[in-house]
Amino acid sequence: MHRDDFNILNTNIIYFDNGATSLKPKCVIDSINKYYEEYPMNAHRGDYNLSMLTSNLYEKSRDKVKEFINAKSSKEIVFTSGATESLNMIINGYFKHALNSNDEVILSKSEHASLILPFMELGVKIKYANLDEDYKLTLDNISQKVTNNTKVIALSHISNVIGDKRDIKSICEFAHKNNILVVVDAAQSLGHTLVDVTDMDIDFLAGSAHKFCGPMGVGILYAKEELMKDIKPVTTGGGVTSSFSEDEIVYKDYPFNLEAGTRNVPGVIALADTIDYINSIGVNTIEEYVSDLRKYLITKLSKLDNLDIYNKDIDGSTIIFNVKGVFAQDTSLYLDKKNICVRSGDHCDKMLHEVTGVKNTVRVSLYFYNTIEECDKLVEVLDNKNILEESLGI
Ligand SMILES: Cc1ncc(COP(=O)(O)O)c(C=O)c1O
Repeated sequence: MHRDDFNILNTNIIYFDNGATSLKPKCVIDSINKYYEEYPMNAHRGDYNLSMLTSNLYEKSRDKVKEFINAKSSKEIVFTSGATESLNMIINGYFKHALNSNDEVILSKSEHASLILPFMELGVKIKYANLDEDYKLTLDNISQKVTNNTKVIALSHISNVIGDKRDIKSICEFAHKNNILVVVDAAQSLGHTLVDVTDMDIDFLAGSAHKFCGPMGVGILYAKEELMKDIKPVTTGGGVTSSFSEDEIVYKDYPFNLEAGTRNVPGVIALADTIDYINSIGVNTIEEYVSDLRKYLITKLSKLDNLDIYNKDIDGSTIIFNVKGVFAQDTSLYLDKKNICVRSGDHCDKMLHEVTGVKNTVRVSLYFYNTIEECDKLVEVLDNKNILEESLGI
């Protein structure tokens, strides 16, 4: 679908590394160029027309994000550099002050480093929920770890390796009945499936524009307003205070107190165009298309007897596998020789192997511009007994 929107797809590459970052459509690139050519000013700094135009576009993008995730107010949205920064701000700006040494956080070993490490660095007690036999994380797995001391459940909406989609609405409902807050890492779900923070009753959410056709270096932090007001600035500097003196710092009201220094202004503005673009296709259409394509590909790959596939039955867009007897990186190098881009390694989930027993895998991650023909090509080149030799050029 919509392949003409991506100039790079006129070359002969097959891009199956969408979990790392998506391709960027022409309208997003045009939006960034337009900023640099027509109103390349800072936002919220200048008292002249062009700067005010830039500031208005920047704030319109905040309104657009609010609608996209169905937040109640634009004040619940902070622009960051990406999901990683958003999670660090949530954990260090809120939980660092809200948790005490007996409090427990529930995570799983199928989470990204950007979610696990900031909690580890806080020094709080972490409990890892078990995964089921397909490596999926369910409400059942989570509830088994809850004690009277549990204060936070933190998880991705769609995991970036296994690709299972978690039932966030039920998890939030359960958590709130037990006075637990929920942090949702939506890096792999925004623009891939419907994310409705109000309906799901999510407390904190983090996302990255670049994973759903948006620019690099732009992230979203969402927090319910009653929580947002208690997030303390982790980074401070220009633009976040209304005054300060030797004795006192007076911060601006949220979300502006959390956006210190010059932001990625063209990126934030282009995020609004990204959301328009995704909405013009429809998130449900994207999800259905990718799900059908994945079913097609997994059926074909399952017929190859030289592959070990680790996540046959999931809802997301990833397929992780190894070619028997071939190191994951060697398989990617082989596929690269066939102009197919995939990722290999641990995919920033450095503890997942403790559950799966497999340290490195090859990950194919699909998006709406991938096609059946591309999947056929992948199957064709993997149906080869000499992958190791060809990857090493021997
Ligand atoms: C589930 C998940 N969380 C967080 C991140 C971090 O995103 P970023 O590198 O854009 O900050 C990623 C990136 O791969 C991810 O897949």
